[in-house]
Amino acid sequence: MNQIQTYIAKHKSRFITELIELLKIPSISADPAFKNEVLKTAEAIKTSLQQAGCDHVEICETAGYPVVFGEKIINPSLPTVLVYGHYDVQPPDPIDLWDSPPFEPVVKTTERHPDGAIFARGACDDKGQLYMHVKALEFMTATNQLPCNVKFMIEGEEEVGSANLSTFIKQNHEKLKNDVILISDTGMIANNTPSITTGLRGLSYVEVEVTGPNRDLHSGLYGGAVANPINILTTMIASLHDDSNRITIPGFYNKVEELSKAERAEMAKAPFSIESYKKALDIDDVYGESGYSTNERNSIRPTLDVNGIWGGYTGEGAKTVIPSKAYAKISMRLVPNQDWEEITKLFKTHFENIAPKGVKIKVKPHHGGQGYVTPINSIGYQAASKAYEQTFGKIPIPQRSGGSIPIVSLFEHELKSKTILMGFGLDSDAIHSPNEHFGIWNYLKGIETIPLFYKHFTALSK
Ligand code: BES
Ligand code: MN
Ligand code: MN
Repeated sequence: MNQIQTYIAKHKSRFITELIELLKIPSISADPAFKNEVLKTAEAIKTSLQQAGCDHVEICETAGYPVVFGEKIINPSLPTVLVYGHYDVQPPDPIDLWDSPPFEPVVKTTERHPDGAIFARGACDDKGQLYMHVKALEFMTATNQLPCNVKFMIEGEEEVGSANLSTFIKQNHEKLKNDVILISDTGMIANNTPSITTGLRGLSYVEVEVTGPNRDLHSGLYGGAVANPINILTTMIASLHDDSNRITIPGFYNKVEELSKAERAEMAKAPFSIESYKKALDIDDVYGESGYSTNERNSIRPTLDVNGIWGGYTGEGAKTVIPSKAYAKISMRLVPNQDWEEITKLFKTHFENIAPKGVKIKVKPHHGGQGYVTPINSIGYQAASKAYEQTFGKIPIPQRSGGSIPIVSLFEHELKSKTILMGFGLDSDAIHSPNEHFGIWNYLKGIETIPLFYKHFTALSK
């Protein structure tokens, strides 16, 4: 065993209990009822960074939830790694589908996690993954082997769109100055197939409202004679895809980056079993845009999905009613070169254009962000690749992800630095779903791999 493995073996149970304590605080940023808990989590992160060896830690107020900033500057002439993560979590709903309460973490084994996994909201996204960085710092400071400077920026509003983070970044260029940004908030292919995320999709999230008559009506007396907003809304939504499952909004694909045959062939080499994919989701077939594979559909192609739809009567029994209003929340995942604000406008114009007479339409943009792709020839990527190669015994596969971390493109724009996405979660870890979990093996592997990134990055920067 090398030094880091010995350190992990010695402190393993404490690493797990500390994470469990952090997971007990319900830091749900979407629900104002949890405000105190979110703030308490920021305090807990601050304490953990101090204990891990940061020389300076502060809680920076924003117009929303605060950013926890910490740093250890050993020598200004050495490179600086900026670690980003988020301490807020998704709401646990639907709560009935959890096998154990979301904020009472338990350790259980699973098929993919024979060494056990911690089940709790935020276990993987992102408390467990950000805490790997805190423990990696603890190791490096305790054993006097931090090879460069380190800064932490841990935010509390990622799951609600990071609305106040761009102002924070714009106002704190000097404080956040760095040579590379390191994030663990994505996944990898499998425990025996390490991968590094080289792309994220952008996002445009909108809410639409269709209004018909000025009040709910008797569906017998008025049915057939006035526009029913739910009928109209569902017809409009259905028209947003054509028979090939392509999005019909004019101009939507104009700037979409098309990958070359060679790039697509390279992507297709990543191990993937369509049979296990279907089995894990209990579906008899996959679905999506013609001409693209499942892995392409969920990473290099843009999408449009209804995330929620409501209106009319949904209570017990039956009520005969033509509702006055119908609503839907729609997300569009975007790929490089698509601009989220432009796509939001295209959506709004199109949605207003396709509405029939007899209803009024409102489109309310929520939040969004640009996509991201990172080259694999940067020293940051090379350092990460070497680190994984050492701890996994295999060269990691570069892979684009379908998820979004909108702040990453802003980092590049504002701070002019590249982000390296070293995620250790698995797609099956059920982030945002009931029974979210994070493998203990993955957690410890992350702690083992991160210090090697620092080492290689510092060496390659010379
Ligand atoms: N950590 C996720 C994003 C992610 C997960 C990217 C797995 C790649 C692989 C992040 O917390 C998240 O949930 N992002 C949101 C967007 C945000 C604006 C609410 C998303 O992707 O839906
Ligand atoms: Mn996340
Ligand atoms: Mn998330």
